[in-house]
Amino acid sequence: MKVLLIGDGARENALAKAITKSSNDYTLYAISSFINPGIKENVEKSRGTYFRGDINSKDYVKTIIRKISPDFGIIGPEDPLFNGIGDVFREEGIPVVGPSSKGSTIEKSKVWMRNLMWKYKIPGRLRFKAFDSMQAAAKFVSEYGGSIAIKPSEQVGGKGVKIVADLQAYLSQDKRSAASRSVEEIGNLVKDEIKIIIEEKVDGPEYTLHVLTDGYTYLPLPLAQDYKHAYQDGIGPETGGMGSISGPGKYLPFITEEEYEKTFEIVKQSTEAINKETDENYIGFISGQMMLTDLWGPTVIEFYSRMGDPETAAIVPRISSDFGEILELTAEKRLNRAKLEVMDEPAVVRAFAPLGYPLNKDIAKGNIISININKIRENGCDVFFGAVSLENNQLITTGSRALELVAIGDYQTAVKKLDICTSFISSSSKLIYRTDIGRSIEDQIEKAEIVRYSYKNRERKGILGVSADWSPNGGLW
Ligand code: GLY
Repeated sequence: MKVLLIGDGARENALAKAITKSSNDYTLYAISSFINPGIKENVEKSRGTYFRGDINSKDYVKTIIRKISPDFGIIGPEDPLFNGIGDVFREEGIPVVGPSSKGSTIEKSKVWMRNLMWKYKIPGRLRFKAFDSMQAAAKFVSEYGGSIAIKPSEQVGGKGVKIVADLQAYLSQDKRSAASRSVEEIGNLVKDEIKIIIEEKVDGPEYTLHVLTDGYTYLPLPLAQDYKHAYQDGIGPETGGMGSISGPGKYLPFITEEEYEKTFEIVKQSTEAINKETDENYIGFISGQMMLTDLWGPTVIEFYSRMGDPETAAIVPRISSDFGEILELTAEKRLNRAKLEVMDEPAVVRAFAPLGYPLNKDIAKGNIISININKIRENGCDVFFGAVSLENNQLITTGSRALELVAIGDYQTAVKKLDICTSFISSSSKLIYRTDIGRSIEDQIEKAEIVRYSYKNRERKGILGVSADWSPNGGLW
């Protein structure tokens, strides 16, 4: 069977490997905007063809579909989904893992997502206010007294969130105008009419649940946690993710089975609500970016209409059943036949980005990466390539996270393996990576316990979901 994969990052490299590992003898074809060495290796291994082209161009993707007649497709990143590449596959009669452009609005617009959660009364919803003018948002921020998160309403790759904690404590005009300036910075990131969404601020450990659905069956995958900040110990600007963890089993050490089940219910109810709103059946991955809060327990921060990156690198290698086949069953609406088996051992992922990422991508472009893959594999790690292009036998960075190392084992062992494997990677410029990923597990367990204690108090008092700061008049107050 022929499989056409769209995308060029480490997530797609992990999916490409799952396809070629399958016992179903798939032939992998891929379209990427540059030559990702990891995807190329898998395409060649399966005797497929690698196309370099615009993954967001409907015409280009349609031409390739007509040329190779794939049996099914997989769309990795969000932009092709937003641009209707899922619709192109379906118009051509090819089953595909990836929602339509309409379905992907759950990720594209946080305002749409928040309205949906309030309309269908889905648990884990936050109060919010949306602004089409940056002046109005800035005025609100300067007058409001509680803690808020200011975000661009459209997806900008996890970047741009500003937390303004407890404005009451900062009554000085200086602090207030600093908060208003945050609004302006974020507003500049987006192109949509609705520029800014301001949400009530919550706190607690973050985690992600990916669910695969064929429109009928829902298959929850193992949890993962993404480390968003650029530098060690969670400081520095937000990035697409500098590493991730998953396990043991389907869980994380700081999320209970009950919390996992509640999270699954939230993602499922949200997907059913999307189906009602769009009058379509959502097919593909939907991932809940969650926070465990005292307000609701599992609480939705945002949704992705795809797998997260680098979360994928921590999840897919831990799936011991045939994940390639599970993807085929999803595309073909036969997911009820899927068997998902997950390794007990956790995985830790460490991403490597060139200096300049994420704030100055021009500096982060055009550097040479050297890597000894054999040594990395001998020492118990695997590598997935991201924003790095194979040009004249050299690996040239394209401006974002260049590669991801993954190691499987209990957390301590996995981190030790990563420390060893890191020594087999070098670059013509400085590389940024975090060695604390997978090390702070005890702190997170403690944080979750504190949140749970307060959650249980709220539950006893019957005030789950109730916020003192925000008026109870629905989502928009
Ligand atoms: N890890 C964040 C993202 O996939 O956008």
